[in-house]
Amino acid sequence: MIVLGIESSCDDSAAALLRDGELAASVVSSQDAVHGPYGGVVPELASRHHIRNLLPVIDAALARAGADLGEIGGIAVTCGPGLVGSLLVGLTVAKGIAQRRRLPLVGVNHLEGHLLAVNLERPPADPLPFPFLGLIVSGGHTGLYLASSAGAYACLGRTRDDAVGEAFDKAAKLLGLGYPGGPVIDRLAREGDPKAIRFPRATLKRSRFDFSFSGFKTALRAYLSQHPEAAEALPDVAASLQEALVDMLVDTTAEALAATGVERLVVAGGVAANRRLRARMSEAAATLGVEVFFPRPALCTDNAAMIALAGAPRLAAGASDGLDLNAEADLAFGSRWSA
Ligand code: KG4
Ligand code: ZN
Repeated sequence: MIVLGIESSCDDSAAALLRDGELAASVVSSQDAVHGPYGGVVPELASRHHIRNLLPVIDAALARAGADLGEIGGIAVTCGPGLVGSLLVGLTVAKGIAQRRRLPLVGVNHLEGHLLAVNLERPPADPLPFPFLGLIVSGGHTGLYLASSAGAYACLGRTRDDAVGEAFDKAAKLLGLGYPGGPVIDRLAREGDPKAIRFPRATLKRSRFDFSFSGFKTALRAYLSQHPEAAEALPDVAASLQEALVDMLVDTTAEALAATGVERLVVAGGVAANRRLRARMSEAAATLGVEVFFPRPALCTDNAAMIALAGAPRLAAGASDGLDLNAEADLAFGSRWSA
């Protein structure tokens, strides 16, 4: 069966085809150039660009896979969480194709897509065994999830305010480095000293697996106004701020690994492309005897292949959410975790 995946929850318009569980094509049209001048995603602009991009992106995915729309057996589309206008564009396109072609249509939680993206790099018959812990780190999300079996997810903690990718982006904006900030800071940090400046690490006493990154921007702004000479030592600033953000992620994840006792960890989402995070998380996991998996960067950032993969089992089982499927900006993911 060929599954068409459609993703438009934030600022990437994406389509992908999965043929019998194998990735046949994944096309992503980035809007970085559109939002770059604003230093962050402008929701209204994102929706308008999805309207323009989505059909050509689907056509490109079909062409790349050498497939015809008539061969599609079902559609999986992101229905939340995300920007509601952006989600609605993807959903409307998916419903249009589903209705015209009389195809089953399932809605997929974007976070389940990130969590399962790791399986796109494994043979369909050999998915990552459960249970595993997932750290999802992107421009819109930061959370720790326990995947105990297919479809059974629990949230251990998540950010109370900004996502960690947002912290990278806002830091880059303050430093005049452009958008998205994560990759630039990652690159600059390689030539800097992570111990040059000690930025605060937020810890939340009452909920030990939650994160908070909103104070970080304030700390950086205060530092920059007190140290105007920092502009001359950007690699040190980048390495130090990256170290603080990575510390917060690694420490909390290590605690969650200890509390759940799971032996496998998946790190996904755009920030999982960060080299320092990969190195530090791998070290921490090795110390705990935990195997860690990072999808390759193109599968870490938003894509539709992960949506097709997450929706495929339900389509194969004959499920369809039908045309009543709606977009939900705050769609919850996972039950509450308890020890
Ligand atoms: O998953 P993603 O493509 O979109 C969202 O769902 O948000 O993640 C984008 C985020 C941006 O905040 C970007 O700055 C960050 O991921 N990012 C990185 C790196 N590459 C992308 N952050 C740190 N280091 C990187 N190498
Ligand atoms: Zn995402």
